[in-house]
Amino acid sequence: MKWNRKDLLGLREVSAAEIRHILKTAKPMKEILFRSVKKLPTLRGKSVVTLFFENSTRTRVSFEIAGKVLGADTSSVAVAQSSVAKGESLLDTAKTIQAMQPDVVIMRHSSSGAAEYLANLLKVSVINAGDGQQEHPTQALLDIFTMQERLGDVAGRKVVIVGDILHSRVARSNAYGLLKLGAEVTFVGPPTLLPPEMKALGVRVTHDLESALPGADAVMALRLQLERQQRGLLPTLREYSKLYGLNLKRLALTGKDTLVLHPGPMNRGVEIDSALADSTYSVIEEQVTNGVAVRMALIYLLAGGGNTNDVA
Ligand code: CP
Repeated sequence: MKWNRKDLLGLREVSAAEIRHILKTAKPMKEILFRSVKKLPTLRGKSVVTLFFENSTRTRVSFEIAGKVLGADTSSVAVAQSSVAKGESLLDTAKTIQAMQPDVVIMRHSSSGAAEYLANLLKVSVINAGDGQQEHPTQALLDIFTMQERLGDVAGRKVVIVGDILHSRVARSNAYGLLKLGAEVTFVGPPTLLPPEMKALGVRVTHDLESALPGADAVMALRLQLERQQRGLLPTLREYSKLYGLNLKRLALTGKDTLVLHPGPMNRGVEIDSALADSTYSVIEEQVTNGVAVRMALIYLLAGGGNTNDVA
């Protein structure tokens, strides 16, 4: 498949064929990560800039590693120490970065739609590293990559996503991606964090975790986004954990060797019990490794890569 997109803004806009192409491209990328010398000349001379207006560990670092492994020059704008702190607008920051002639800009921003705004302004490629509550496409791609590695084709597989769905760009991107690939997706959470409109995405919706678990092939616990909570959306953390926290006893209700995923960062003891997060069911660290591979694939495709055979 020939890759024609300038930007990757979300999984809502991409086709199943494009998702498969990204995941297929990520496979040889992952092998490179396990070589003793993790450096290719593939994107030598290309330049990648990360621009994160929100905190991040996994996404920012894995994009930087991904670019470096492919031989690109990577630069990171430390927003708190940048001219943003002096009141520079997103438009002016974006134009300034573009004037430095990068090939790919990777942005995380607290406003939904910020990545699209940037992509419409800039001639260079933009990758959305999370915009408000809207999308986090590279997280969903790495989640699906991880499920595929462990389960094979996700078509027909049952995936349960539990937690703070209302504020979760990860849940939305996973729903778009997984449904396009034929999986069955169930969202679970308390009524205040799981509005009925979510059904419009094509997912099943329930407020009862224990009834959703039987038969699940993969269960993803979402971080309770305490920083985005408005007062009154939650009972106590203790009660939330009692009703919606994942633990080994609950997981046994699936009746299967179910995969346990978490996009991170985790609130241990709130949405996921430590014993489960560190158990053999957990693929949380694999998700992080796969995140580098998936982000390598995207930088490669957007920065002018074409044929996956070039990578080996
Ligand atoms: N999953 C995720 O986006 O993690 P970070 O916030 O650490 O990037």
